[in-house]
Amino acid sequence: MNAGSVGSAVTASTGAGETPEVPAGRVGLAVRGLRVVYDGFVAADDVSFDVQPGESFGIVGESGSGKSTVLRALCGLAPRAAGEVHLVGSEAAPGSRAWRRQVQMVFQDPYGSLHPRQTVDRILAEPLAIHGLRDAEARIERALADVGLADGFRFRYPHQLSGGQRQRVAVARALILEPPVLLLDEPTSALDASVQAEVLNLLDALRVRRGLTYVMVSHDLAVVTHLCSRLMVMRAGRVVEQVTSGDLAARRAQADYTRELMEASLGFRRVAV
Ligand SMILES: Nc1ncnc2c1ncn2[C@@H]1O[C@H](COP(=O)(O)OP(=O)(O)OP(=O)(O)O)[C@@H](O)[C@H]1O
Ligand SMILES: [Mg+2]
Repeated sequence: MNAGSVGSAVTASTGAGETPEVPAGRVGLAVRGLRVVYDGFVAADDVSFDVQPGESFGIVGESGSGKSTVLRALCGLAPRAAGEVHLVGSEAAPGSRAWRRQVQMVFQDPYGSLHPRQTVDRILAEPLAIHGLRDAEARIERALADVGLADGFRFRYPHQLSGGQRQRVAVARALILEPPVLLLDEPTSALDASVQAEVLNLLDALRVRRGLTYVMVSHDLAVVTHLCSRLMVMRAGRVVEQVTSGDLAARRAQADYTRELMEASLGFRRVAV
């Protein structure tokens, strides 16, 4: 991810003073008729869904189906050609500074998403400076502790960390502003299976402990079924259906396409038997 350009865009549009905090557990999402077009190519069309405060909502679908596009539109990184996105329980306007404090994203690739020449300390301090938050020391210490990294990691560079440790830093960076909503784009797919499970368990524990609202994209139906209460299936930029994880585990999907995805997911079969 282009952390630098996102950061500088934010810096350019912000004034002085602290962006107000909205407590976790009170903010959900409402998406209506979202359409994203890249150079004439419709990457997402007529996408609508609701996420309740404190809920974990999954998005699944084959590669290129528009999952990342929806997340990117939610945090202002993809152009919205039509439709509306709202934070339920918050007054923040899409793309505003307040919105960016309340909706943070964790990207798939822990190698690309952390600036290679910045220490963990600097990576975590940057969002605090952008949003005018004081107590950087205490916040950085707390964020590292939250993701299970000892204080000694603070002055390391990304290349001195394992993949799992990098992704923990990426989660800490997303959490440092204490946003109520976290968007997770394949947060563990670049990691080995055992590390993947550790990071997923950490994410789940953080959500429960802090009352966070998650929207999580994954190829892996087993992961989404385990961590999310409901999920949306996408294909070619459109919503195929929404199902509860319970229905999916009991193989009660309505659409043929969802059943095909279930059959294709070896992990899902392993979990379902
Ligand atoms: N910046 C862009 N410019 C042009 N086309 C894009 C851009 N970003 C995505 N697309 C196209 O939009 C479609 C949806 O992409 P998206 O990244 O949302 O898919 P995805 O479901 O996240 O796939 P994957 O599982 O591989 O990550 C793809 O066909 C992709 O090529
Ligand atoms: Mg993607």
